Amino acid sequence: MFSAVKEFGVTGRAIKNGLVTVDVIDLRQFGQGNYRQIDDRPFGGGPGMVMLAEPIIQCVSQLKRKYGDEIPVMYLSPQGRRLEQKQINQFSNLSHFILLCGRYEGVDQRALDIIRAQEWSIGDYVLSGGELAAMVLIDAVVRQIDGVLGNCESIHNDSFANGLLDCVHYTRPQSIRGRSIPDVLLSGDHVSIEQWRLKQSISRTWERRPDLLENAELDEQQKQILEEIQNEQRVMEKP
Ligand SMILES: C[S@@+](CC[C@H](N)C(=O)[O-])C[C@H]1O[C@@H](n2cnc3c(N)ncnc32)[C@H](O)[C@@H]1O
Repeated sequence: MFSAVKEFGVTGRAIKNGLVTVDVIDLRQFGQGNYRQIDDRPFGGGPGMVMLAEPIIQCVSQLKRKYGDEIPVMYLSPQGRRLEQKQINQFSNLSHFILLCGRYEGVDQRALDIIRAQEWSIGDYVLSGGELAAMVLIDAVVRQIDGVLGNCESIHNDSFANGLLDCVHYTRPQSIRGRSIPDVLLSGDHVSIEQWRLKQSISRTWERRPDLLENAELDEQQKQILEEIQNEQRVMEKP
């Protein structure tokens, strides 16, 4: 599954360029008995299987011996704290971390306690396994690492980078099915284009995610633009 991040796109390129390493470890290496068992039936009965504690503890211990006891262990779980850009940025400053992917009904709780796993969720829905969630986290973290994206400007303007959503984007052709692009984008006036983009970005955030604006640290210019947008809206709402 992990070839999706290891071989393709931004993450694949970052790995090829030696900026990041993703090691995928098959827990079956630590499985028990002839069948390398890594799961068993739940105590108390009920449907599904539960991942055994011992293979996970052994695997994490081996990694701790290699990378140090303090290496963070993150279990991808729908019951975890919801991942946001803020944490992703923090993770991108870590030299190493371990991602634990669950399957079936999840992991024996004692393993999580013993390895002192933080729990992180990618949203309020349930996936069949932690691998896709881990890949989401890896992709989001890797694009924050210096040198990974060609034009490092692009992460600074991305949604959430500065507490706002990104502005709208257009490409060629200039007109499509009777819809043209805003004139300012053809003006060549970079200051006006930047101001227009900022206003678009604030206006989108105000319309779609007003909750973000409550926590955003806006500078004077941004505050002024927000007021302008709110006033424009009040005028439009007047009967
Ligand atoms: C079928 S789920 C287990 C769900 C578990 N029985 C529950 O309801 O909390 C199997 C695995 O998928 C992963 N997973 C599922 N949903 C996730 C989410 N929203 N975020 C992160 N990981 C998730 C976890 O690693 C989990 O152990």
